[in-house]
Amino acid sequence: MNAQDVVVLKEQGLAEARQAATLAEVEAVRIKYLGRKGVLQEVMDNLKAVPAEGRRDFGRCANELKQELTVLLDERKTALAAAEKAAGQKQFDVTMPGAWRSLGTRHPVTQVIEESIRIFSMLGFTVADGPDIETEYHNFDALNTPADHPSRDTQDTFWLDNKTLLRTQTSPVQIRVMESRKPPIRIIAPGRCYRRDTTDATHSANFHQVEGLYVDRKVSMADLKGDITFFAHQMMGPNVKVRFRPHFFPFTEPSVEYDFSCHVCGGSGCRVCKNSGWIEISGAGMVNPKVFNIVGYDPEAVTGYAFGMGLERIAMIKFGIEDIRLLYDNDVRFLSQFS
Ligand code: PHE
Repeated sequence: MNAQDVVVLKEQGLAEARQAATLAEVEAVRIKYLGRKGVLQEVMDNLKAVPAEGRRDFGRCANELKQELTVLLDERKTALAAAEKAAGQKQFDVTMPGAWRSLGTRHPVTQVIEESIRIFSMLGFTVADGPDIETEYHNFDALNTPADHPSRDTQDTFWLDNKTLLRTQTSPVQIRVMESRKPPIRIIAPGRCYRRDTTDATHSANFHQVEGLYVDRKVSMADLKGDITFFAHQMMGPNVKVRFRPHFFPFTEPSVEYDFSCHVCGGSGCRVCKNSGWIEISGAGMVNPKVFNIVGYDPEAVTGYAFGMGLERIAMIKFGIEDIRLLYDNDVRFLSQFS
C-alpha cells in the first residue's frame, strides 16, 4: 500500500459519505472508515511496511483521510438531522388512533322522562307542555284549589308577585290543554316543579313530575289503575306491585295516592323505602266535575282521570339512588354510572 492507495481510499470514503441519505447511513460510513477496525486503522497498520522515503507522504495522506472525512461526516449529520426534523413536523401518521373525547351520559331523570314518554305513547298519549312560571289561576284556582288551601301558603309556594308563581305541580298543564282542545284528550306533561321544601335526602325545592290526563266518554277508575300498573311494570319490571290509597286532591274526586313496591329490596324493607316496602309515587284520581265546568267541558258527557308522578322518586328506586341530592350535584363520577 502506498500514498496513492490512501488517496483512493479517501476519495472512496468521501463519495460514500456524500451518498449517505440517512443518519444511520452516515454512521455506517463513519464506522467503516474511522471505526476501531476500520479502513483508517488498516492504513495505519500498513505504515511500518512503507519504505522510509515514502513514509512522510503516506502519513500525510492518512491524516488527510481522517480530517476530511470527519469534517464531511459531521456536515452530513447536521444537515440530515435538520431535514429529518423538518419532515417530521409536517408529516403525521394517519394510522395513529385518534384522540379520545369521552361522551357525556344522559341524566337519570332525563332517562326516566324519555322512558315515560315511550311507555305512555304505547297507550296513545302524546306530550304536552306548559310554562314553569305560572299564573295563580292555572296553578290553583282552575284546579279548584281555594284561596285558603294550605298549598297556597307562602311557606309552600315561590310567589313571584300577587298573581304569578313558580308552578308547584305539573297539574296546571291539564288546565292549559283542556282550555285549548276538545275531548278526547290523552296527554302526559313532564316538567319541573318548585316548592319551598328544605333540601334533604328525599326532598328538593326543584323536582320533576309527569302529569297525565285522559278525558273521554266513560273513562273510569279501572282505566287509571290499569294504565298506572302497566306503566309500573314497563318502568320497573313485571314484579313490581302497585297500591292505591284513598286521598284528597281538590281537582280530583275520588282521589288516591299510589305507591310502587320498593324496587331496591323487593318489598321486604330497606333504607330507600324506609323499611315500609313501598315508595309513594304521587297522587291521582278522577277529574273533578268542577274542573270540567271551569274549562268548559260538559261533566255529563265526559269523564277523565289525572295522575302525577314524582320522577326523582322513580329514578331513585329504579337506579337504587339513596339521596335525591346526588341527582343535582352533577358529579361526573355519579352521572357516568348511568350510561
Ligand atoms: N299535582 C298533585 C301533586 O303534586 C298530584 C296529582 C296529579 C293528583 C293529578 C291528582 C291528579 O301532589
